[in-house]
Amino acid sequence: MFEQLKNKIHPWFSNDIGIDLGTSNTLVYLKGKGIVVTEPSVVAVNQKTSQVVAVGAVAKQMLGRTPGHLIAVRPLVEGVVSDFEATEEMLAYIINRAQNMSKKLLGPRAIIGVPSSITNVEIRAVKDAAQNAGAREVHIVEESMLAALGIRLPIKEAIGSMIVDIGGGNTDIAIISLGGIVRSKNLRIAGDKLDQDIIAHVRSEFKMLIGEKTAESVKMAIGSVIEGGGHLEAAIRGRDLITGLPREVVITDSDIREAISTSIDTLIESVREVLETTPPEILSDIMRSGIVLVGGGAQLKGLDSLLSQWLKVPVIIADDPLTAVARGTGVILENPHAHTDVFLDHDDDLS
Ligand SMILES: Nc1ncnc2c1ncn2[C@@H]1O[C@H](COP(=O)(O)OP(=O)(O)OP(=O)(O)O)[C@@H](O)[C@H]1O
Ligand SMILES: [Mg+2]
Repeated sequence: MFEQLKNKIHPWFSNDIGIDLGTSNTLVYLKGKGIVVTEPSVVAVNQKTSQVVAVGAVAKQMLGRTPGHLIAVRPLVEGVVSDFEATEEMLAYIINRAQNMSKKLLGPRAIIGVPSSITNVEIRAVKDAAQNAGAREVHIVEESMLAALGIRLPIKEAIGSMIVDIGGGNTDIAIISLGGIVRSKNLRIAGDKLDQDIIAHVRSEFKMLIGEKTAESVKMAIGSVIEGGGHLEAAIRGRDLITGLPREVVITDSDIREAISTSIDTLIESVREVLETTPPEILSDIMRSGIVLVGGGAQLKGLDSLLSQWLKVPVIIADDPLTAVARGTGVILENPHAHTDVFLDHDDDLS
């Protein structure tokens, strides 16, 4: 009786959302609508009043530029919650925006993606933050699983797939077959680490200090991991460490390659380690279908070719790699009964 009633009422409350709570970007999928929010994961807070001044793109613009009483923080570091309050504020803001779009009264049910290495304590932190931020019910799913669902890999079948999600804070490497994760590895080398590598390189080679945003922009503009894309260069500005004054230098694609080479080697090595422990039947599937790259870091020029060259396996960059995880939450939301087995928690079932 209650079930019937619930099913009748349910469509009126179907404001369920999926959240890819990333270190760099947060995306929200609203059931029936698709991806409705894409914002950098940054929150700006006024320390005098403890009020949130800005969230998302506006707050990112403030990073490294705030006056004394304002701080712009990234609530997640290396894929996990580092600032609980800021995470809650970020979630409240996006849940609110999705609510306004769906004009529903009841708090939404939410599916949230987390890195595969997450501990139970960290899962609890994400769930609490989302619940405090207004979500009525929260389900946690591994990001690799969501990404695989999002790009429609045949994960429920007896066919192995390998997915490598290179985000801002962490790289998630996973082998998936028959609806489960067969092997996985998570490492804290991803986009942010490459930015730090570039900052360190510019500091030691040019005796100049640059900000994170500058490092990221130059990485995206001229960064590549293999030679042959032609000579690329960009002007970057920062502070001369000797004179203390502003200065501009020209940096090339080979500078960037040198800066990030150790991190890229570790990344390739980690993918190799996972392959080395993968059962042979699955290896044969992967040789046929290729390793699939998702996440913003997948767009680093030449990374697919370099991986393929070293690992002797085809490597494919998924279409629209930045939205794979969010699209995966959509696959679950649009057909919840078919996917409850991927929830890392089993509090209540989605109906
Ligand atoms: N064209 C590009 N070349 C190199 N790196 C890129 C490019 N585009 C985006 N990135 C990097 O991708 C990262 C963001 O990717 P993504 O949005 O997938 O991360 P995230 O999901 O927020 O992080 P995580 O999954 O680690 O929590 C950033 O570090 C960004 O600099
Ligand atoms: Mg991610």
